[in-house]
Amino acid sequence: MALDLEQTRLRQVLGRFATGVAVATCRDVGGKPQGITINSFSSVSLEPPLVLFSMARSSRRLADFLAAGRFAVNVLAADQQELSRRFAVSDDPWCGLACDQDNTEVPLIVGALAHFECRFETSHDGGDHVIIVGRVEALAERPGAPLVFWAGDYHQLVGATG
Ligand SMILES: Cc1cc2nc3c(=O)[nH]c(=O)nc-3n(C[C@H](O)[C@H](O)[C@H](O)COP(=O)(O)O)c2cc1C
Repeated sequence: MALDLEQTRLRQVLGRFATGVAVATCRDVGGKPQGITINSFSSVSLEPPLVLFSMARSSRRLADFLAAGRFAVNVLAADQQELSRRFAVSDDPWCGLACDQDNTEVPLIVGALAHFECRFETSHDGGDHVIIVGRVEALAERPGAPLVFWAGDYHQLVGATG
């Protein structure tokens, strides 16, 4: 099979790989919470505890994440699809959002299935993306089913009880 690297085709075929959905969050230099929907989250290393996600160079929020010393990855639950959309498109995704983390260093998404609070470790060139690596410093989880992204759309994981 010839490898057709046309962008839309590449995106379409990559979409066959089912992922969870997360919102990466940080504070900008002014202390305002920032967040972006991601599905490029991945584990890297257990010792030391490293995780990564890739962020488009074109993202308005890239500079915030590169400047922030800390960030969090919030793994979305099955009932948080609206949040995924919001943090992908909205100019002000935090507007009206229940966020009881106003005074914490890293804003966390309430109701997420898991939180990974990370110290920024390093970044790498990733073509039109930047690979952001964080060292996990704190963890939390709760039972529940995850939000799944597959073939360009949201799905529920049948049978997931958490
Ligand atoms: C399910 C889903 C997964 C996404 N994953 C990523 C990702 O891993 N990295 C990324 O840079 N953008 C990702 N995006 C796109 C961003 O959420 C956002 O739409 C885009 O960065 C918009 O640009 P802005 O940051 O300038 O607002 C994803 C969007 C969706 C809906």
